[in-house]
Amino acid sequence: MKHLTIACAVLACACADAAAPAIEKRIDALLARMTLEEKVGQLVQIGSGDFASGDVEKGPLDSHVVNAVVRGEAGLLISCCGIKKYNQLQKMAVEESRLGIPIMLGHDVIHGCRTVAPIPLGLSCAWDEDLWRGLAETFAVEARTRGIDWTFAPMLDVSRDARWGRIAECAGQDPFLASRYAASMVRGFQGDNPADGRHVAACLKHYVAYGACEGGRDYNTVELSDDTLRNVYLPPFEAGVRAGALTVMPAFHVMNGLPCSANPYLLRTTLRGRFGFEGMTVSDWGSVGELVPPRHGMYANLADAAAGAINAGMDVDMMSNAYRRHLVERVKAGVVKANVLDEAVRHVLRVKFALGLFEHPYADEKLLEKLDLKKHAEQMRVAAQRSVVLLKNEKRTLPLKRGTRVVLMGELGDNPSEMLGTWQTWDVPGENAALLAGLRADGVDVVYAPCYTMTGAVDVVAVTAAATNADLVVATFGELCGWAAAMNGENTSRADIGLPGEQDKVVEALRATGRPFVAVLFNGRPLAIPELADACDALVEAWNPGSSGGWGVADVMTGLAEPTGRLTVDFPHKTGECPLYYNRLETGRPWVDGDRWTTRYVDAPSPGRSLFSFGFGLSYTTFAYANEKAAVDGDKVVFTADVTNLGGRTGEEVVQVYVRDVVACVSRPRRELKGWQRVKLVGGETKSVRIEVPVSRLGFWHAGTRVAGEGEFNAWIAPDSDRGRLLTFNLGGAR
Ligand code: GLC
Repeated sequence: MKHLTIACAVLACACADAAAPAIEKRIDALLARMTLEEKVGQLVQIGSGDFASGDVEKGPLDSHVVNAVVRGEAGLLISCCGIKKYNQLQKMAVEESRLGIPIMLGHDVIHGCRTVAPIPLGLSCAWDEDLWRGLAETFAVEARTRGIDWTFAPMLDVSRDARWGRIAECAGQDPFLASRYAASMVRGFQGDNPADGRHVAACLKHYVAYGACEGGRDYNTVELSDDTLRNVYLPPFEAGVRAGALTVMPAFHVMNGLPCSANPYLLRTTLRGRFGFEGMTVSDWGSVGELVPPRHGMYANLADAAAGAINAGMDVDMMSNAYRRHLVERVKAGVVKANVLDEAVRHVLRVKFALGLFEHPYADEKLLEKLDLKKHAEQMRVAAQRSVVLLKNEKRTLPLKRGTRVVLMGELGDNPSEMLGTWQTWDVPGENAALLAGLRADGVDVVYAPCYTMTGAVDVVAVTAAATNADLVVATFGELCGWAAAMNGENTSRADIGLPGEQDKVVEALRATGRPFVAVLFNGRPLAIPELADACDALVEAWNPGSSGGWGVADVMTGLAEPTGRLTVDFPHKTGECPLYYNRLETGRPWVDGDRWTTRYVDAPSPGRSLFSFGFGLSYTTFAYANEKAAVDGDKVVFTADVTNLGGRTGEEVVQVYVRDVVACVSRPRRELKGWQRVKLVGGETKSVRIEVPVSRLGFWHAGTRVAGEGEFNAWIAPDSDRGRLLTFNLGGAR
């Protein structure tokens, strides 16, 4: 009873741990009264009968769902059915089912519900744990207004391959930053007390290494060394468990030959054994049913798949009906032991207790009117500001100067729903969601000339004419994210991550006009855009910025807000360079420009040089670093530097600490992020920045053993993963 104990204890009463035995006793008592069928019912998750689109309150309850709830055949539901229906179904569970065990309702509230933040990849570029936690608190309370008490978030898949469409949903490519993101989101979603009716159960997904799918193709196979699994892909999940996450969702794919849904090494040895997880595991949609031929082919039939999954440690079966149809018989046949079944049910009941559902099963139908959605919209606007990464700004093109006559071009310049990004199951009316509205709200003299769509033909004449009649062009580029034509999000892997459609023609047409142009990217992944990056005068990475996103992006473009975002992924020059990531090994032949025999591509700039690197982002001012030092002080290494704002306007720098273990028992990455600090400086101001890194953070896993960092290290206190003065320190010990 480790981390969930804290969650449960904090929930049930102030005195930590005093409640955990009390809850366990209540679970024991329930288990003693439950029939085999009722126990299996607690492990079954079915659809709520609605799949949220618009106002889900309309229409009758689904009789299939009602019967399953009243008979205790489905203890968990998925997909928002609206708060009134949730309460009606909950009332049936509590008052009409034999034991009155409440249901739970899960839904993908990934980056917003009634207001929407930028996609998680954009949020990760804020490098701000307080911002992340605060947003998750808002997502949670808004979810509760729709009767949702469990979200399938945060998504913690480290992703190094931009071809994978779900990179949009993750916190980038670095395990340390993703770990901080994980803990912040869990604490935000669950709060100190998930039973307070304003928080939800979090769900760490997709456990694990889903982002390492071969070819960046969704659902595809993953083959990883145990070292890489432990050093790169598991840390965010461990961080989420230690933050008290109540649920974990194993992924669809095969990991080293075993599907994650039936992988005891992942589900029992690692998740329960190493991390001490005591909450509930839930399969991804239908994945237990995917264990049989012609799919994974782990088990001959659904009955064996049900037994195999629960024996491997899968508590809840989402939507495959394997448990519902076959688990009772598999237990009676002795293929699933009673204690294995009881343990899975115990995990589910623990989460329901942790959510306070036994004491307060009903959602507060008046909660929505207690919320200040304008305040939430403002929070989403700030989140959009903080997610923007300024990638280029020649001739001080930005911020826009007052009185400049601007023409805004492209479909994404005035398309509010396309600003919401992947996983938006409600059509959220945003406040100045579109860039056009945002620019106008910020007083920009702007006309809109659509000229082209993301996938259709380009009216080059219109582009040229519109550009000629304006002082400055703001041209929008990127990907579509609406469900119908989504180019990022689930199962939207792209074999070519250049600009879709004929957008390249827009780039060349604008280059030919010679007019200054700002390119604004609305996308869910790094794109291979060397031509655009070269042709434009300024390049704004806006991601999918959310329901107040256009406003937030306009705030940065006009200078009302500073550009403070920093990339959490590398941008390649060409798709063929994927997977591309900063924390790679050097190889025996690290790239040297012009040296024929060092690692490179003959038809692309060497892997030694990304188009834009992890940690990179510009400000409207510039910063200088001086007196950088790395000093070992007992069980920590202290990094200090003097950072000066050289410009005339206030700016915010993200000071980053990278290390390299120079000599180790295995080859170690050329750089690894080990700490960062945001520092705000007025023009001309200097601050001494101090970042402490525990020595324990400098170790790594090899052959199942945690190896302590020893000997000489290179280090950098830097503005991104490419720059910084080389420092060294020595941890002593034999190397
Ligand atoms: C989907 C996704 C997962 C989501 C689940 C429930 O297929 O893989 O991220 O939480 O199903 O919607």
